[in-house]
Amino acid sequence: MNCFRSSGPARALLATALLVAQGAALAAEHGETLIHPQPWPAVAPALPLDAKTETFVDNVLAKMTLEEKVGQLIQADISAITPEDLHKYKLGSILAGGNSAPDGDIHAAPARWLALADEFYQASVADGTGAHPPIPELFGIDAVHGHSRIPGATVFPHNVGLGATRDAALIERIGRAAAEEVAATGLDWTFAPTVAVVRDVRWGRSYESFSEDPLLVASCAQAMVRGLQGVPGTRDFLGAGHTLASVKHFIGDGGTVGGRDQFDNRIDEAGLRSVHAPGYEAAIAAGALNIMASYNGWQGTKMHAQTALLTEVLKGRWNFPGFVVGDWNAQEEIPGCTKYNCPQSLNAGVDMYMAPDSWRQLYGNLLVQVRAGTISQARLDDAVRRILRVKAMMGLFDKGPPRSRADAGHFEQLGSAAHRAIAREAVRKSMVLLKNNGGILPLDPHGHILVAGAGADDIGMQSGGWTIDWQGDHNSNADFPGGTSIYSGIKAAVEGAGGRVTLSPDGSFQERPNAAIVVFGESPYAEFEGDRETLQFSPTDRTHVKILQRLHAAGIPVVSVFISGRPLWVNPELNASDAFVAAWLPGSEGGGVADVLFRRADGKSATPFSGRLGFSWPATALPVGFDKSGAVTGALFKRGYGLSGSERTTLGRLSEDPKLSPAQRVTDTLFHAGHVTAPWSIYVVDDVAEVRLTMQSQQSPGGSVTVRLEPPAVRAAWSGNGPAELRIGGRATDLRAAVREHAALVVRYRVHAHPTQPVRVGLRCEGPYRAPAAKNADGTPRDWRQCGTRNGATIDATRALARAPLGAWETLEIPVKCFAGDSADVSLVSGQFALDTAGVLDISFTDIKFSAAAGIATCP
Ligand code: BGC
Ligand code: BGC
Repeated sequence: MNCFRSSGPARALLATALLVAQGAALAAEHGETLIHPQPWPAVAPALPLDAKTETFVDNVLAKMTLEEKVGQLIQADISAITPEDLHKYKLGSILAGGNSAPDGDIHAAPARWLALADEFYQASVADGTGAHPPIPELFGIDAVHGHSRIPGATVFPHNVGLGATRDAALIERIGRAAAEEVAATGLDWTFAPTVAVVRDVRWGRSYESFSEDPLLVASCAQAMVRGLQGVPGTRDFLGAGHTLASVKHFIGDGGTVGGRDQFDNRIDEAGLRSVHAPGYEAAIAAGALNIMASYNGWQGTKMHAQTALLTEVLKGRWNFPGFVVGDWNAQEEIPGCTKYNCPQSLNAGVDMYMAPDSWRQLYGNLLVQVRAGTISQARLDDAVRRILRVKAMMGLFDKGPPRSRADAGHFEQLGSAAHRAIAREAVRKSMVLLKNNGGILPLDPHGHILVAGAGADDIGMQSGGWTIDWQGDHNSNADFPGGTSIYSGIKAAVEGAGGRVTLSPDGSFQERPNAAIVVFGESPYAEFEGDRETLQFSPTDRTHVKILQRLHAAGIPVVSVFISGRPLWVNPELNASDAFVAAWLPGSEGGGVADVLFRRADGKSATPFSGRLGFSWPATALPVGFDKSGAVTGALFKRGYGLSGSERTTLGRLSEDPKLSPAQRVTDTLFHAGHVTAPWSIYVVDDVAEVRLTMQSQQSPGGSVTVRLEPPAVRAAWSGNGPAELRIGGRATDLRAAVREHAALVVRYRVHAHPTQPVRVGLRCEGPYRAPAAKNADGTPRDWRQCGTRNGATIDATRALARAPLGAWETLEIPVKCFAGDSADVSLVSGQFALDTAGVLDISFTDIKFSAAAGIATCP
C-alpha cells in the first residue's frame, strides 16, 4: 500500500509542512498542552493521491473567488437555510440535524427527502461564475444505525450491539445496506461510524460505541467504513449505493471525566494514543476521507482548538488526505469564540464548520478574517483543497442532480427484505446471554408463553436515540412501518410452531404460562440527555422487578430481555430471573430476539447465542475501572463474556446493594459536591446565545455572565452588561407532582456581591432542542413554552439576595407551587432552575435540589 506522503505531489507536501510549522507556532502561542507528534504511529491511507484528481482540484481552486472559497468551509442545517439562500451563498455543505427534516416534518416520506436534496443540489450549481465547473454541495445526515431518521427505513442495532457480534463481515454488509438506503434518498454523506472507546458508560452516547476495547473498535470501524464507502481501489469505492463516511468524534470523546457529554478528557498523551486513536488509524487505512472533530476537550483545551492533534497528528503523522468537519456549533465552546465567529477553529485544523444556524454571520466573519490575514491564504486553500478533493473522489462533479442518479429514487431499498434480513441477523448475533440457570433456554415454542414488560411491544424503545428524531423519545410502533417488535417476533415464532402467546405488559395472567419473557429497559435518549449519575437501572420505578419477582415466586421460568444502550447494574433483576439476555438497542427487526430464545419447531436446538460483551458488565452501580494496561476492575461479567445457550449456569444470589453514598442516591439533585448531576447541565445564556458548561469555566457568548466550577461550589458573576441567565436543565420533566406534594426548590448559596438590579429565579419550559413535529398525546402540536409566560414561571428573589450577608452561606426554599402560579403549566419543564438579572451579581451555590419534605407554604 502506498503512503500518501511519499506519493503525493510536492506542492501538497510543502503545504502540509508549512501548516504543521504554523500549527506548532499557534499551539505554543495559545499555551495548549503539548502533544509530541513523533511517537504517534504513521498511517498509510488507503489510496495514494491521484494526479488527475489533484490537477483538477488545483485548477478549480485557482479560479475560485474568495467568496466561493469561504463558502466551501461552511455547512448549514436545512432548518435554517433554504435553497434560495444556497443559491446566493454557495456553501460547501448542508446537513439535516437530529430534528431537521423537509418542511420540518420528521415523518416526511423518502420522496420528499429526495426532492429536497435535488433542490439544494440545483441551487448549489446554478449561476456560478463560469470560471470553473460548478461545485455541488454535500448533503449529510446522521444515519448512525441505518437511515434511521426516515420512517420505513431499516433500523439496525446501535453500535453497542454490533460490537457484541464481533462480526466484521456482517458490519460491512450493514454499512453497505445503510448506504444504499441513504443514497436512495439522494443524500451523500453519513455521519458514522462513531469510534469512541467508552471508558465510563454513564455517558449517554455509550450505545454509539462498539466497545471499551480499542482493537475491537478499530476492526468494527474499518468494516463500517468499507461498507459505507466501498472498497478503496475498486470501482465500487464511493460509487453507486455508497456514501461518504464521517469518523467521529476526534478524539477522546469516550473518555471524559465522569462520562459527561462534551467534557474534558484528562488521559495522558500515551493513553490518548493507545486507547482513543486506533479507530481512526484503522478507518483512515480503510479509506476514510472525513473526520468529525469532537466537542470534548483534552487536558483543558477543546478539540476544535487542538492544533497539534488536528494538524500535526491527524494531517501530519497520519497523512489524512480528507477534510475535518466540526461538530454542531462546537466552535462556540472555544474561549473567545461565538458560534458566529471563530477563526481559531479553522486555524487549528477544522476544515468545515458545522454551523447549522450560525452560517450566515460566520460566512461574513470568515471573509473579513481572510482579508485581514487572521486566516492565512495557505490555510484557506488547504481547507478548500481537501473539501474539493473529497468531492472529486466521490464523483460529485459528474454525478448530476440527486434525482438523476442511478442509485437514487429506489425507495424500495428502504426497509427492503434483504436489508431487514441483515438487520435481523445482526440482532440475533448481538444478543448476549448472561445467565441461564437451570438451562431454561432455549424455550419450547409449543407451550404457552407469557410476554410481559414495558418494552415488549415498543419498537421505539428497542431502537433508542437517533431514530426518527434526535432523542428518539417520541416514537410509537406506527413510526416503523414494516418493523417488528420483540413481542411480534416471539408471537410469530411460537405460533408458527403451534404454541400460544399472551401479551400482558403488567405480567398478570389468567392461564398459567409455561414460561414468561419480560422485556424492560432504558427509554430512548441521545446526546447529554442520556448521561446518568450512576449505573443503577431505574432506581425509582421498580415495576419491572415486581413483575419478575411475582412470576418467579409463582414458579414460572422467567427470561429477562433487557433493552439498554449500555451495561447497567441490574443485580436485583438478575436475581429475579432464571435467564437474562442483554439485548442492547436492536432496532426495527425485533424478530432476531426470538431467533435465539426458542428451540426450533422440529425440536432441534435453537440458533446458539453468539454475542459476547464488548463492554464489561459492572458489579456495582459505579462504572468499572481500567488500569494502565487496560485491565478491568469491578466487573461482574468481563468483556468477552457470553453464554451460548446450551450450558446451564448456577449463578448464585448477587448483592443487591448498589454501594452508593446517600448523595449518589438522590435523584432530585441538580447540583451537588462541585458538579451538576447527570443528566442535567449548566447553561449560560445572554442576548447573543446560550452555551453549555463543559469546562471548568465558561462565559456567556456576549460576556454578560461567567460561570466557574469551584468545588464544592459553582460561582456565577454577572457583569451588569446586559441581561443574562444561569440555568440548570436539559431534559423535560413533569413537576406537577412536586406541586401536589408541596415540594420545594432548595438552594444553598453565598453572595459575594449584592445585586444591583432585580433578580428572578424560575423554571423554563422551552426545550432548546425539540422535535418540531412533536405531538401531545391528544395529537395537538406540543408547545414548548408552556410555563405560561415567555420566560417561564419566575419569582422575584431580589430582596432575599440583597439582604444576604456577604460571604455567608444561606438557604433559599421556594415551594414549587410558587412557580406554577395560577396559569403556568409545569408538566414539561426543561429548565429546572434559572436565575437571571441584568445587573451586577456575584454568587456561589453548593446545593440545588428539589426537596419533598419542605413543609413551607409561603411564596417569597
Ligand atoms: C440537532 C442535532 C444536534 C444537536 C446538538 C439538535 O438540535 O438536531 O443534530 O446534534 O442539536 O446539540
Ligand atoms: C453530534 C454529532 C452529529 C451532529 C449532527 C452533533 O451534536 O455530536 O454526532 O453528527 O450533531 O447532528
